[in-house]
Amino acid sequence: MPNFHQALGIIISFATLFYLALYLLDPLRSSLGYAPRRHIQHSTRIVAVGDLHGDIGNAQKVLEMARVVDSDGMWSGEVDVFVQTGDIIDRGDDTIKLFGWMEDLRSQAQRAGGQMLSHLGNHEWMNAIGDWRYVYESEVKTFGGITARQAMISTGRIGRAWAANYTTASRLPLHPILGAPNEDFPPRARSAAGRLPTPLSHAAYSFVHGGLSPNYTRLSPFPSAINAIGRSLLRKLQHRVQPRPHPPHPYPGLPSRATPEEHTFYGSGGPLWYRGWALDDKEKVCREVDSVLEKTGTRRMIMGHTPDFEEIVSRCNGKIIIIDTGISHAYGGALSALSVEYTLKDVRSSSSYKWREKEVVKAVYVNRTVVLVDEERDIFGDI
Ligand SMILES: *[C@@H]1O[C@H](CO)[C@@H](O)[C@H](O)[C@H]1NC(C)=O
Ligand SMILES: *[C@@H]1O[C@H](CO)[C@@H](O)[C@H](O)[C@H]1NC(C)=O
Ligand SMILES: *[C@@H]1O[C@H](CO)[C@@H](O)[C@H](O)[C@H]1NC(C)=O
Repeated sequence: MPNFHQALGIIISFATLFYLALYLLDPLRSSLGYAPRRHIQHSTRIVAVGDLHGDIGNAQKVLEMARVVDSDGMWSGEVDVFVQTGDIIDRGDDTIKLFGWMEDLRSQAQRAGGQMLSHLGNHEWMNAIGDWRYVYESEVKTFGGITARQAMISTGRIGRAWAANYTTASRLPLHPILGAPNEDFPPRARSAAGRLPTPLSHAAYSFVHGGLSPNYTRLSPFPSAINAIGRSLLRKLQHRVQPRPHPPHPYPGLPSRATPEEHTFYGSGGPLWYRGWALDDKEKVCREVDSVLEKTGTRRMIMGHTPDFEEIVSRCNGKIIIIDTGISHAYGGALSALSVEYTLKDVRSSSSYKWREKEVVKAVYVNRTVVLVDEERDIFGDI
């Protein structure tokens, strides 16, 4: 047994050798191209799917085609983030199955280190309001009647999932140094905000069902300003005495306690119903889009709601992407998914930091894939 002084000597010698080795190896590591901030290298794969409208068969086909799930409908682990932009309900019978499946996938994703972002579309909101114009009688039967359906979509299983795990808008960073999904832009921390904009500060996408109009006043901070209004309105709707559904009963409207900003939120210029990005002419939308991307801290905005039955629509070089292709048999449109592959690689030389960013956005269909965006950028300096 070495005595105390011998032990101390041994420890000091090892510590010295260790630091000496680090000191000698560091320039060697650098000259071999290993950067000290290698963890900034990153790749991510995102899949987004639009309106599903009560058709679990076609939903399974689309998610399997995009490799979000396997042939048994289980999370495949091949995708990092799966986004659905709302309108799962109405025009079909599979409401209960679809919302149940989404919660199963969410848990599976979480266990596999993946993530899901789910959104309420205007049809989920219509149902919460009691506007049941697009509800099939056969679908009401799957709940066991009107009262049971009202219960399940308000304070029951489906309504609780909406309140807990669905938002109206989201912001998804392509790189983790921008924060977790749905962290606000601009960032709250003064140090980070003071550094805006950085080459990566807008490396994020927004997702919403209808669209983020340039005239919508609650864009910022994004997405919490929108989602706070949505949460407040949903709570009021879910906890009121459920009105008798329209039709045949009169349109119930928003609760009497709804605030003016909750009315604007649900209005035709709000995030659930806005169609300007899909329908306005090209000059107008491409002139207006940058102001919204700037305010939301994003490069592209992805939305559903306004279908094109043939294909996913990309406008203004992919700054606007509309992914509703009428997937449900109620429409018989194209089965489609949006796929995003992002990588940030360290390509620095011995004398300077350099990163190469690559962003490939594709529309995936049953028999073909169309590249919508294929961009590569070099970023110099520290990030
Ligand atoms: C919300 O999602 C989590 C998994 O992220 C799940 O554990 C929870 O049960 C879901 N909540 C509801 C109300 O469905
Ligand atoms: C926003 O408001 C301006 C001024 O009222 C108007 O010219 C513009 O068309 C509006 N944009 C949208 C997308 O509604
Ligand atoms: C895909 O291609 C196959 C074989 O060419 C064809 O039979 C099928 O109809 C196509 N499906 C779609 C959805 O276009």
